[in-house]
Amino acid sequence: MSIPAPAKSSRKGPVGVGVIGAGNISKQYLDSLTVFPDLKVHVIADLFEEAAAARAKEYGIPEWGGVDKALNHPDVEIIVNLTIPAAHVEVATAAVNAGKHVWTEKPFSLDRESGLGLLKAADSAGIRLGCAPDTFLGAGLQTALRLIQRGDIGTPLTGMTTFQTPGPESWHPNPAFLFQYGAGPLFDMGPYYLTTLVQAFGSIRKVAAVGSKAKDIRVIGSGPKAGEEFTVEVPTHVSAMAQFESGASSHSVFSFESPRTRMGFVEITGTEATISLPDPNNFDGDVRLWRAGDEDWTTIPATGPANGRGMGVLDMARSLRAGVPHRATGSLAYHVLDAMVSISESIDSGTFVDVESSAPASAPLPVDWAPETMTLGGHA
Ligand SMILES: NC(=O)c1ccc[n+]([C@@H]2O[C@H](COP(=O)([O-])OP(=O)(O)OC[C@H]3O[C@@H](n4cnc5c(N)ncnc54)[C@H](O)[C@@H]3O)[C@@H](O)[C@H]2O)c1
Repeated sequence: MSIPAPAKSSRKGPVGVGVIGAGNISKQYLDSLTVFPDLKVHVIADLFEEAAAARAKEYGIPEWGGVDKALNHPDVEIIVNLTIPAAHVEVATAAVNAGKHVWTEKPFSLDRESGLGLLKAADSAGIRLGCAPDTFLGAGLQTALRLIQRGDIGTPLTGMTTFQTPGPESWHPNPAFLFQYGAGPLFDMGPYYLTTLVQAFGSIRKVAAVGSKAKDIRVIGSGPKAGEEFTVEVPTHVSAMAQFESGASSHSVFSFESPRTRMGFVEITGTEATISLPDPNNFDGDVRLWRAGDEDWTTIPATGPANGRGMGVLDMARSLRAGVPHRATGSLAYHVLDAMVSISESIDSGTFVDVESSAPASAPLPVDWAPETMTLGGHA
């Protein structure tokens, strides 16, 4: 697919935002989106309008209602799509058809066909797509990526990542969807780890994986449905290797089958040093470096902004006004989705699977990038 010239907005002042999906994660987003002066949240929508109304009240958002209310709002330039994974493409496509730029929560889509369709529709309409995770724009991962790009570890050679928990059914009151197609530890947590690896190494060219499912039935552990059984549809332990275009390789574990919890482990080894990255589900955290000959880690403090979910939307908004590429793009998220689908296919086939798509390189975020500063002038 061609890389389109980035869309530029001729409007002035803060970029208008409409949120669709007033569930759990909308709180974290609205904590940021409603305080960044370069954004103005005009409306929040949900299938359940009462959920949208409650969030609007909580955050002082002037308008709320059903999906069309956000799609048709004249001041909304970016739709922030925080619906469930199965609705991501449908809602994003409706926004593209309404002429709005779209930010979507992860995963970008559940399959290649619908994801590619969305990329093509946006491309031909001159619409920007952004997608979570934006955690790699946070101070922790940006500090690590800057060190890697500066050559502090030499040539990056290998990566290891680990995400292991017993599974979310012990604490999540409604966990069945996390064990269905489009979720599981790979699709739910993979975007954080694989996006980080792609930022460090570049595009993935092929993958090989094994997966397993220890239990066909799990039991809800908390909330009003505690004790209810549900069916596990996807592998709950995935062990995946990736080879990158550069020749580098990585090994990742994604598991809902471990009594011991171990998350956020990401190490990248180069010719001169190993770097330990902070949890890729977070925006902050220490970076540690172990150079050849060292006897212990050297801790490097993270520098830069770490405002939380919504940084990617702000970067997209500022880039839209400036007519420059934004960083957490739909194409990057599609590449990660393509890699995850390929990992699933490799588990089924027992063979290596080629990854056809490529990820565009994301420019580093300037250390002095300041989300709380107004850069786009007064209100439009
Ligand atoms: N909860 C978390 O901790 C978390 C963390 C990171 C990312 N995410 C991602 O955020 C997204 C949302 O997760 P959540 O936990 O907020 O889910 P949720 O179920 O709490 O909220 C989703 C909301 O979207 C609404 N919705 C569903 N389909 C819709 C449609 N077609 N049109 C309009 N509204 C629709 C639902 O009514 C609901 O209010 C998911 O993609 C998830 O992967 C969640």
